[in-house]
Amino acid sequence: MKRIGRMAVLKGDGIGPEIMAEAIKVLVAVEQKFGFYLERQSWLIGGKAYDDMGHPFPEETRLVCENSDAILFGCIGGPKWADLPPKLTPERGALLPLRRDFRLSVNLRPIIVYPGLEKASSLKEHLVRDLDILVVRELTGGIYFAQPKKREGGSAIDTMVYSDWEIDQIAEVAFKEAQRRSGRVTSIDKANVLESSRLWRERVEEVSQKYPDVELTHLYVDNAAMQLVINPKQFDVLLCPNMFGDILSDLAAALTGSLGMLPSASLNPKSIFERRSFGMYEPAGGSAPDIAGQGIANPLAQILSLALMFRYSFGLEEPALSIENAVKQVIEEGFRTKDILSKGKLIIPVSTSKMGSEVAARI
Ligand code: IPM
Ligand code: MG
Repeated sequence: MKRIGRMAVLKGDGIGPEIMAEAIKVLVAVEQKFGFYLERQSWLIGGKAYDDMGHPFPEETRLVCENSDAILFGCIGGPKWADLPPKLTPERGALLPLRRDFRLSVNLRPIIVYPGLEKASSLKEHLVRDLDILVVRELTGGIYFAQPKKREGGSAIDTMVYSDWEIDQIAEVAFKEAQRRSGRVTSIDKANVLESSRLWRERVEEVSQKYPDVELTHLYVDNAAMQLVINPKQFDVLLCPNMFGDILSDLAAALTGSLGMLPSASLNPKSIFERRSFGMYEPAGGSAPDIAGQGIANPLAQILSLALMFRYSFGLEEPALSIENAVKQVIEEGFRTKDILSKGKLIIPVSTSKMGSEVAARI
């Protein structure tokens, strides 16, 4: 079998290990079908790494990531570690450094309502049927990372900075993705209040000149939140600064009924248009410690993240599609984990592990 590359497997905390096990099941099925393999190394990250090794992002884990072409990431965090000093929490000690140090500035979050899951949405079925939005979120800039960021006397300071090149870079990705989709970009900002948003709007406008075939609209973030709830299907690609993308992607995710369905890709812009970029692939849902260990978590977001990995880090569209089609099929055939369960004659409630096996069987 041909070795196509190397991946780091970081399961993390909460439901991470359970849903990762299912993604690996599917990976093995893909390898058998296509006759290649991915060398993989598992390592500790997050709260578990803190417990066992004293740091949420140990040096060993960093080395494994550096020696990989891609990272398949589970999820990290939980109440057990929330009150540690900020630098040692799973989020600020591991996830944000991973994004920053590997320059994963491009975050793609496909928001898709699979046929059959409309009922799981909080909105009326007709509003979300066939919904397909791509959130393109800037991930290593803005208020998440800019300095100063500190406490001073009775005050706390965060800083929001965007530079022209950062905006240009993420805007290019949004326009190129839009060209492969319905050709519409909605750029999100708060240009009526924030200086960094005014620059954002100017730069996006400038970049759009190169893409006359893509229709560009600007929306203030508050209006965008409202529009997403009123009529989500008006959107194709949502181009967002870091924090607005964080907020709107959760909102958009809720429209699909379950966070358990949403994969994401965080990509280094180098070679991104050749679909050969270093990337980290993770479910958007979080570690869900409340349901960990019960065998009820939905593994589909993790499995769909694997599909994104084939597409964006290995440039392999066929394995990506075979995973996505297998997921579509199991949904159509009625298999449901608890989070997406609805009433119906053809609905078959399944565990985490059964769901993974059903997908693997359809590769
Ligand atoms: C996300 C998460 C993270 C973020 C947290 C866990 C730091 O909410 O990936 O959306 O805010 O970016
Ligand atoms: Mg978030």
